[in-house]
Amino acid sequence: MSSLPTPAAAPAPTPVPAPAATRLPRVLRGILSLDDFEAAARRRLPRPIYGYVAGAAENNHSRDDNRAAFAELGFVPRVLVDVSRRDQSVELFGRRYATPFGIAPMGISALSAYRGDIVLARAAQAAGIGAIMSGSSLIPLEAVHEAAPGTWFQAYLPGDPARIDALIERVARAGYRTLVLTVDIPVSANRENNVRTGFSTPLKPSLRLAWDGLTHPAWLAGTFLRTLARHGMPHFENSFATRGAPILSANVLRDFSARDHLNWAHVARIRRAWKGELVIKGIMSPADAALARQHGVDGIIVSNHGGRQLDGTVSPLRVLPDVAEAAGGMVVMMDSGIRRGADVLKALALGARYVFVGRPMNYAAAVAGEAGVAHAIRLLRDEVDRNLAMLGLLSCAALDVGVLRPMGPMGAAR
Ligand code: GLV
Repeated sequence: MSSLPTPAAAPAPTPVPAPAATRLPRVLRGILSLDDFEAAARRRLPRPIYGYVAGAAENNHSRDDNRAAFAELGFVPRVLVDVSRRDQSVELFGRRYATPFGIAPMGISALSAYRGDIVLARAAQAAGIGAIMSGSSLIPLEAVHEAAPGTWFQAYLPGDPARIDALIERVARAGYRTLVLTVDIPVSANRENNVRTGFSTPLKPSLRLAWDGLTHPAWLAGTFLRTLARHGMPHFENSFATRGAPILSANVLRDFSARDHLNWAHVARIRRAWKGELVIKGIMSPADAALARQHGVDGIIVSNHGGRQLDGTVSPLRVLPDVAEAAGGMVVMMDSGIRRGADVLKALALGARYVFVGRPMNYAAAVAGEAGVAHAIRLLRDEVDRNLAMLGLLSCAALDVGVLRPMGPMGAAR
């Protein structure tokens, strides 16, 4: 028998952490994937609050397409590659993040989880991953920055330049380095589900709302009353430079002054004023990606807002390759529909450098606070790691469109 070349000595095995399940809070033990958080959060949260997070716009076509698009793509793995030294970390704006995914901005997170914005930001920081705080939030942005200084801030622009300038100045003064402008909301979306569940901002006191609270005592005591007792009535703190409406009121109206005139001239103005990284969220068209680049924007998030704005907008995954091409050297990120490590890798293969996960992180915070979010991050990180290995890849940078094939009827044109 001819002698075979001696394979290189196997590297020392990577230490395997002790099974986390034994140390997990009971409520997390049956949660094996991001999707599992939803049912647990639905049980915990009053109907209007769960409905606000879970719901989308009109017929939910976009929200559904965000999942469907991922299922239309499959992988072609390579085998017998030494992947023992794989590493899923990625670099973004000169900083290294432990995973290619972070936490998307989500409005009023402090209503679904006690101190929700801080919980999300701290869990992300502890895991070394990115997180974006929503401007539609109930905890002052300064407090979130203090708790987790690496967090990015996402703003909804006020309608007039003086208030835009004041908000941007406040965000800079607080110490944020990365500002995200969400631009897919010239007008409010048609969210019929909010009307059906009795959700509004502010929430209007009613017998029905009281009943929704009383029938969810863990949330009522652990989130709402605890917040009232320790921090007073939550207000919208970060829509403007000054405090906005309370979250619960019979007669106060939130300031939804017109934003339908906002345009690229406002971006140019902000670009001049903002010295840190500027990111635009809600880009879907390659033409808009090119405009963002021309305006000196540092990065874009390809997003249909989790299907919550224009119903019928295609999944960002479908436009990602064309947007990435138009983006030139800009950092391209995406959100909307990521639930699995496989989804993360598909988005990266199509041109995203980084992705953001929304609803599941909100549910995780609602169900078990920081431990819940840490668990969600761990689940997704492990899926990314496992899938990279099974694809025969050492890093996220090695992903390209060559690993993907259409997953559908044989012979169907792509
Ligand atoms: C806020 O961003 C929302 O989509 O409700």
